[in-house]
Parts: sequence; structure tokens; C-alpha cells
Amino acid sequence: MIILGIETSCDETSASVLKDGIILSNVVNTQLIHSEYGGVVPSLASKNHEKLINHIVNKAISDSKIKLSDIDAIAVTQGPGLIGSLMVGLNYAKGLSVGLGKPIIGISHLEGHLFSGLIDNNIKFPYTCLLVSGGHTQIWQVKSFNNYKILSTTVDDAAGEAFDKGARILGLKYPGGPEIEKTAINGDKNKYKFTIPRVKSNPFNFSFSGMKTALLYLTDEFSKNDLKVELSNIAASYQESIINTLLYKLSDVLDFYKTDNVLIAGGVSANKRFRIKSNKLEKDKNIKIHFPDFKYCTDNAAMIAMVGYKKMLINDISNLDILPFSSIEHA
Ligand code: KG4
Ligand code: ZN
Repeated sequence: MIILGIETSCDETSASVLKDGIILSNVVNTQLIHSEYGGVVPSLASKNHEKLINHIVNKAISDSKIKLSDIDAIAVTQGPGLIGSLMVGLNYAKGLSVGLGKPIIGISHLEGHLFSGLIDNNIKFPYTCLLVSGGHTQIWQVKSFNNYKILSTTVDDAAGEAFDKGARILGLKYPGGPEIEKTAINGDKNKYKFTIPRVKSNPFNFSFSGMKTALLYLTDEFSKNDLKVELSNIAASYQESIINTLLYKLSDVLDFYKTDNVLIAGGVSANKRFRIKSNKLEKDKNIKIHFPDFKYCTDNAAMIAMVGYKKMLINDISNLDILPFSSIEHA
């Protein structure tokens, strides 16, 4: 069975071809234009998806060495995401569906990340998934492909957002995660302390907005020149605090909902320091922590094609009138 996956929920235009659960191609174009604005500009994102989508899909098809007519179904991200961006992918997928006479399957972007670790790992169900991206920071209990529930979420910013907003404060480019990671390499991670936030209403939940404000206050204390000198120490300390927060909460949740396997997925899971620090939790809890391959951490259509394949196997297909949705509450 051959699935074409399409992902346009934010600022990546991506298409992938998957055959019987194996990825044949995965083309991802990250729109660089947003870096000069310090964040994603929704109108520019949809305009660029519109410009690129046909080229990206054609490239995914030619890279996979199949013909467009060989496709059995089109899996497309339905939400959560930017409505204008989602509509470009959805409408393109609808057009293909009509033109080829093949079914369309609307996929939740979160499902994509939740199962992204299975593309090239064999992770046994049930597993716990820490989903850390620019829009979401959640812990899920995943029992099977269509049986999973949320255990914890952020009450304000997502961890990726904390990296992005932190980078902006430090005068670094968007996306902030990779920039802070690079800047932090030779920095002293213990030089500045950021408090690990507690959420009174639900101790499993995350909060990152206070950390970003603390960073703002800290940088205000420095002159431009001193900030330059201290930049790597501040970046390293800030990165360490975000990672510690994520691992502390994950540890608390695992005390309560223990699983032998854990997946850490989403854009922030590409962070190398995060991967190294997770080794300690793995040993302490006697569990196995998995990470997707780097190319499947940030947004990509391969993870969408993968979920589409699993849905096709149980005939869970969509209608042509499916609509985009901006958040899970509106799914
Ligand atoms: O999963 P993703 O591509 O898009 C969303 O679904 O949001 O995640 C993007 C987020 C951005 O906030 C970006 O700064 C962060 O992932 N990110 C990282 C790294 N690479 C991407 N954060 C920390 N370290 C990284 N190496
Ligand atoms: Zn994502």
C-alpha cells in the first residue's frame, strides 16, 4: 500500500511517500523567510506553502521512484496549526483525491509526532510520549495507534516557544531552539539559575512563561557588550532549565503512570543536550527512552504518511468536506 503524506501546518512544506510502512521519500522545505521576523508570520507561511506545494509533492513522488497514479491514499495534516497554512495542504490533497479517485485521510499533527518514533524504531506499546514542539508540550499515554490519552500539558508557553522567545530576547534568530543550542555549546550551564516552575492546579502540568520573563529581567541587567560576553553562559543556563523542567515533570508522571518505554518527540527532541540528559532518567527509572531520528523530530510529512498508513489498514478514511482546525479543542 502506497501513501502520500502532506504536511503544511506551520512553516514547513513537506511531502512524503510511504510504501507498506517504509519511507521511500521525505521532502521538507523550511521557510527561511520567518527568521527575519523572529517568529512565523501566518500570511507569509500560507503564501509560501501555496508557492511550493506542487513542487514539493512532485519531488517526493520522483524521489520515491513511484508514479503519482500508484498512490492508494493521500494523508494530510488537518490540524492543529495555522488555518491558512493547513488549508493549502488540505485543498491540494482534496484536488489530488478527486483527480486520482483515491481516498483522503485527515491526520492530527499531534498523532504524527506521537507515532513519529515508530518510523524507524520498534517501540512496544504501551509507551509514554513527551511531545515537545513549538506549539505543544504534553505527556501522553499511548496504548496503541488509536488508543491514547493526554496526562499533562502546558498552562502557557510550549517548550519550543520558550526557546524561540528566549532566542529573541538574546538577539538570536528564529527558530530559537537550534540557535540557543549552538550558542550554549561552550557556556557554563550552572552560572545562572532559573526556577523550575510549579503549577498548583495540576503538578504534572508545565509552565514556561515565567522562565522567559526571568530571562528578560536577567538580560536587562547587562550592557550590550557584557551581554555579548555572557551570551553563551546565559544560553547554556536557560537551555539547561528548560530541559530540567521537562525531565522533572516526565519523571513525576512516570512515577504515577509507569511504562517501560518512553518516546520524546517533536522539534525540541532534536536538542542534543536534552538527549544526553535523558540518559540519567533512563537509568534512574530503569526504562528505555527513545528519540525519533533527527529528520523526524521537526515537522515532516513522513510522520503524517505513517499515521495515514495505519488508518488505511483499518479503513479510517475521511470525507472531502474535512475542515482544518487550529487547536485540539476545535478538532
Ligand atoms: O515540531 P516542530 O517542528 O513544530 C511544531 O509542531 O511546533 O517544532 C518546532 C520547535 C521550535 O520551537 C524550535 O525552536 C524547536 O522546535 N527546536 C528545538 C531544536 N530544534 C527545533 N529546540 C531545541 N533544540 C533544538 N535543537
Ligand atoms: Zn510539529
